[in-house]
Amino acid sequence: MSKKIDWMRKDLLGLEDLSKEEIDLILETAESFREVSERAVKKVPALRGKTVVNLFFEPSTRTRTSFELAAKRLSADVLNIAIQTSSVSKGETFKDTAKNIEAMKIDIIIMRHAASGAPHMLARSVKASVINAGDGSHEHPTQGLLDIFTMKQKKGKIKGLNVVIVGDITHSRVARSNIWGLVKLGAEVTVCGPKTLIPIDIEKLGIKISYSLKESIKTADVVNVLRIQHERQQGGLFPSIREYVNRFGINMEMLEEARKDLVIMHPGPINRGVELTPEVSDGPHSVILDQVTNGIAVRMAVLYLIAQRREKA
Ligand code: CP
Repeated sequence: MSKKIDWMRKDLLGLEDLSKEEIDLILETAESFREVSERAVKKVPALRGKTVVNLFFEPSTRTRTSFELAAKRLSADVLNIAIQTSSVSKGETFKDTAKNIEAMKIDIIIMRHAASGAPHMLARSVKASVINAGDGSHEHPTQGLLDIFTMKQKKGKIKGLNVVIVGDITHSRVARSNIWGLVKLGAEVTVCGPKTLIPIDIEKLGIKISYSLKESIKTADVVNVLRIQHERQQGGLFPSIREYVNRFGINMEMLEEARKDLVIMHPGPINRGVELTPEVSDGPHSVILDQVTNGIAVRMAVLYLIAQRREKA
């Protein structure tokens, strides 16, 4: 059991800012919310009377839906802003859009944006709480939290786990949030991928670098596989998809060298046949759909802790 603390933050912007105790508090709170989704009536009254707004400037399936379900299972009112049909398409800034939404007396804004730092800027200008649902290549804190929650569920611990994060580390907000959280909780983290997709000096975060997945997979407890982000790459960062698949894609043959209890994760969306063959993504090592299920409990925990702090403030 971790040291007991109270949640004191208005916003959740990244795992870089959080202490080990704050991360433990979210994970423990998520554990208590996990069974709500197993009930016949999947609802508790914790956020009754609160309004949560989903403000997504980038596409999303899992995160937006998961936040919406989490908020609804806590009995909040939920508003989804469709950016394509909002006044953003007429040139309104995201700050003005958010301020106008805030004037309607909402409590929490969940924001995804292509620019790193956009939720941080918003958090400074509104009284509503802001939750970062992914900002550029910077952070995706609730994805990091749900990944860590799932690792703990499957392996019983985080401290000492050998976690390999493979793929496009440079462009990945998921990798950054995983690294910040896992290192704080005592995991041994290795990032693995082509040299061109691993940032210089990333070892300074307290992690190792590998350029060979075939080697790293042999001793891994968990492999967290990242999506190749065609939309964020300038092109030419690796010779071809075929070469990438040969060196960093996971297939059944590669798994023969791995531990029998290896856990394979992927934040989605998967490029099937690129990062993972279908046999691997749907196979016994994969916990990809458990990640999605756990995402709701983790987001319920984050919404609950933030709403509680607002009540006290
Ligand atoms: N993992 C994740 O962020 O997925 P979405 O882009 O579908 O939200």
